[in-house]
Amino acid sequence: RRMLGRGSPALERSSSGGQTGEAKAMAQLSDSISVRGVSYTVRERVGPWWNVSLYHKKWTRQILKDVSFHIESGQIMGILGNSGSGKTTLLDAISGRLGHKDNFFGEVYVNGRQLKKEQFRDCFSYVPQSDTLLSFLTIQESLTYTALLTLQKRSNDFIKKKVDAVMAELSLSHIADKIIGSRIFVGISGGERRRVSIAAQLLQDPKIMLLDEPTTGLDCLTANQIVSLLSELAHRDRIVIMTIHQPRSELFRLFDKIAIMSFGELVFCGNPMEMITFFSNCGYSCPEQSNPFDFYVDLTSVDTRSKERELKTYSRVQVIVSAYKNSEIFSKVLAAIERTKCMKELPPIPLKNKDSPSAFYKLWILLRRTTRNFSRDKMGIIMRLLQNLLFGLFVAFFLLRLRSDLVKGAVQDRVGLIYQCVSAPPYTGMLNAVALFPPLRAISDQESKDGLYKNWQMLLAYIVHFLPFSVISVAIFSTFIYWTAGLYPDASRFGIFFAVVLASHVIGELLTLVILGVVQNPNIVQSGVVLLNSAGVIVGTGLVRTIEEMPTPFKILSYLTFQKYSSEVLTVNEFYGLNFTCGGANSSTAINAACIFSNGIQFIEKNFPGALSRFTIDFLILYAFLPGLAIVAILSFKVRERIIGR
Ligand SMILES: Nc1ncnc2c1ncn2[C@@H]1O[C@H](COP(=O)(O)OP(=O)(O)OP(=O)(O)O)[C@@H](O)[C@H]1O
Ligand SMILES: [Mg+2]
Repeated sequence: RRMLGRGSPALERSSSGGQTGEAKAMAQLSDSISVRGVSYTVRERVGPWWNVSLYHKKWTRQILKDVSFHIESGQIMGILGNSGSGKTTLLDAISGRLGHKDNFFGEVYVNGRQLKKEQFRDCFSYVPQSDTLLSFLTIQESLTYTALLTLQKRSNDFIKKKVDAVMAELSLSHIADKIIGSRIFVGISGGERRRVSIAAQLLQDPKIMLLDEPTTGLDCLTANQIVSLLSELAHRDRIVIMTIHQPRSELFRLFDKIAIMSFGELVFCGNPMEMITFFSNCGYSCPEQSNPFDFYVDLTSVDTRSKERELKTYSRVQVIVSAYKNSEIFSKVLAAIERTKCMKELPPIPLKNKDSPSAFYKLWILLRRTTRNFSRDKMGIIMRLLQNLLFGLFVAFFLLRLRSDLVKGAVQDRVGLIYQCVSAPPYTGMLNAVALFPPLRAISDQESKDGLYKNWQMLLAYIVHFLPFSVISVAIFSTFIYWTAGLYPDASRFGIFFAVVLASHVIGELLTLVILGVVQNPNIVQSGVVLLNSAGVIVGTGLVRTIEEMPTPFKILSYLTFQKYSSEVLTVNEFYGLNFTCGGANSSTAINAACIFSNGIQFIEKNFPGALSRFTIDFLILYAFLPGLAIVAILSFKVRERIIGR
């Protein structure tokens, strides 16, 4: 039962006051973060793309400017500042999550040591501004799966106890079995969601917690509860750094440190009492009735509504900044940083609890989690299982039954049906992936940054989870359409038909996943795959224009499309061994012009020369697309990990 941290809370509390002699003695025991001279710049284009001359110019924008502070365990720090002042960026900088690290200067020390690249995510827990949770799981399930992903080597009993303890700590126990919910259906409230996100981080017993706006969008009471909770967490031997918007004045005393940011600069950082004294000394005392947070943030904001005001407010901020940098408070911070750096007996870098499971076990947990989540999604399941059938019903209703009389469209109808069976199932697969995968992708982006698993592992779990759905869905569709429309009545041919449609359906879904790896916007992905599918059908099937007649570039291109193989196999599967009739005995010679084929083999030889001998190889190539695309999808998500990790 070491839930509540290592040291004695009472002891730790006393060290949080300042850098006095007493604290110095204590500091050897407590963990600390020192941030010194952190600056961050980005290169931005001056104008939008439609303004050509400005678009080609770039300017350097400083987002963080020489930020320094020092905080020790047992303390909670609130970062204030108006929108765009660089609060989130500062948290990202501390936790090593910034892109373009070459524009980053300054040092971040934990217990006096600089962290190595891979230590960042094991050291900090980061609760981002938006909650990413699976909507169909209960709170308890959600936390249990997270625990399983991080603490596999522990017994199930341990994990259960741990989850219960964390839920109790965040007062979630009474709603443990409530479904989390999403924007589409109601579940737990916004404040409860925030607490679940915090709880998920607490499972690993982090010593350093960063939270980006944990209270935004919540009512005052809930917001206050969350801040009090975080302050309690901090006082149990943790470091908590949070950004906050418009806190109530009651919270003033809950923070051990308050930092105010303006235009990337730290205008002030110190404890609440120091803050009041400091600003009074600068000539700005907070009026009795006003909220000190609002007052000081307003005071240090740059008003950009007009040039004059901007200059006036900016110079005011500069005066305050230089007053702060010359103050005793700031020199104490610098001294504390130097002291920790030189300290001999530093505590080790505090890492989160981590006994990560093997890659296989992670995959297994992810598969269970994904399956359980989707198994609760009634509409999702209905959509998955019946979408192909609905399409089949429509085709069957339109086509009725295939006939063998050429005059009555024996060839035409079959070609049309094959065309539909080649082009529609990939499309339904694509729709599935676009509808169901992006929320999972958002979660895996988040959790892979936390080091729980890799993006591609979630992808693979998703692929494995949808295979049974695809098999059932395509089985329902094939059985219905094959026997209703009256395709070649033979069990093994039906088996091949089923196998080809299944492959196309899964290929459609895999192809979409490949693109979802590198393209963020699902709408663009959807348009892209629809076009890709149409192009594939036109170039590859040989049903729109026979391949023989196509110009060479298209012929070559057709070999790259999976539709080429599926349509050849389906055509041979249906036409081989078929004998046609031609009208009744009394049909005229004019109608007989339709009767150019007397059997199916002639049709195949005319439109798909050589397809008969390629039957097996076509089938194998079609199936080779599956592992091929799965591998490409994994690679695509590895690339994604690079991109988002930068
Ligand atoms: N990678 C980046 N490229 C370009 N600009 C960036 C980048 N990251 C941050 N910025 C800019 O830096 C400024 C500070 O952003 P940041 O998100 O840190 O502000 P914030 O204080 O968290 O604001 P809010 O309170 O609205 O969340 C913003 O103007 C933002 O546009
Ligand atoms: Mg922010």
